[in-house]
Amino acid sequence: MNPNSSPLTDLLRHGYTPGQDAVVDAYGRQFTYLRVSVTDHCNLRCVYCMPEEGVPWLPRDELLTFEEIVTVIEAAAACGVYKIRLTGGEPLVRKGIEKLTEMVARVPGITDLAMTTNGIMLGEYAPKLAAAGLKRINISLDTLDPEKFKAIARRGQIGDVLGGIRAAAAAGLAPIKINMVVLGGLNDTEVAEFAALTLDRPIEMRFIEYMPLEEAKGCAMGSGNFAFIPNDVTKTRIAERFGALEPLEVGDNMKGPAEVWKIKGAAGRLGFISAMSAPFCKACDRLRLTCVGEVRSCLLDGGGVEIKSILRGGGKCADLIAAFRNAAHLKPEVHKAWDEIPAANMSRIGG
Ligand code: GTP
Ligand code: 5AD
Ligand code: SF4
Repeated sequence: MNPNSSPLTDLLRHGYTPGQDAVVDAYGRQFTYLRVSVTDHCNLRCVYCMPEEGVPWLPRDELLTFEEIVTVIEAAAACGVYKIRLTGGEPLVRKGIEKLTEMVARVPGITDLAMTTNGIMLGEYAPKLAAAGLKRINISLDTLDPEKFKAIARRGQIGDVLGGIRAAAAAGLAPIKINMVVLGGLNDTEVAEFAALTLDRPIEMRFIEYMPLEEAKGCAMGSGNFAFIPNDVTKTRIAERFGALEPLEVGDNMKGPAEVWKIKGAAGRLGFISAMSAPFCKACDRLRLTCVGEVRSCLLDGGGVEIKSILRGGGKCADLIAAFRNAAHLKPEVHKAWDEIPAANMSRIGG
């Protein structure tokens, strides 16, 4: 594909309306959200994601270039995608990420540009990302205890993440969502403390059920480091401390996999992401672009369509749109059950 041509602007020039080529899957779900993994690298080694020694990193030339990523996003915008999330691995370790952010922010039709990060480098990057056009940010933080942080993230300093969250707020990124994967025996006793953060802060605190991807699978149930905690247990623990929670209807750019509640009178919100105990596949509006150029239909299921050969082999926007359509058709009605989830690497696919 010619890196100097812009598939979307070329189409617009010919009277094309974004969204005209809507991609709808076999179960009637329309593709409006693309999660983009920009790197498989990460500066942490969270126990639920990677082994301590890391995973074999991919050679650099296997990763899509910024121009290639933007080309895919333009084709997605042509199909009616308006929401992009940059993720990883850890997106901030990809050199020049603020440049990519700026390039994506300029794509016509992309009105919701977000990022998911572990926050370690956010103190430095938050102002640059906000200036580049990032609107909002989700930050992983699994514990408030520095010792537990060492046990869960196995690298990095909790103070950097806390500083990163403050920097994001100061830079005007909003809303800020904090992601906590609830791990029995490691951090599950902290859920009420995390919920308390929403009392006087306008953040969304999200409690995420562990998903058994790749090697983390083995440590969850039994042999290893932590146990699976379903979100009804987490919700009950929070309600025991703060009283009955109030359900919230969420507006469009707040929609996502989370079911959203609130402590009575609180400034912020509580999100519960229950992929294992209550799959939200019925409302799934997303495809994923991996850092090596595969369009994945689902995080917890096998299918994907390779598109790097289209990008590097002179393909056209229509070929990318066809690839989205093929990927959407691979999307299962509901993801596979615990024992059947295929080996896949979260840091490459992009959370
Ligand atoms: P919002 O638009 O802010 O709601 O973002 P998000 O929740 O889609 O993004 P984020 O990267 O913060 O993801 C939070 C958690 O939800 C992570 O554990 C993700 O892996 C999980 N998640 C996001 N999308 C999906 C999905 O399509 N399927 C499943 N099973 N989990 C998902
Ligand atoms: N299960 C649930 N959530 C996970 N994340 C990473 N691995 C897992 C897993 N196995 C979360 C991270 C991050 C988001 C992108 O996905 O904590 O917040
Ligand atoms: Fe890195 Fe995210 Fe995996 Fe943690 S969950 S090791 S921060 S990619």
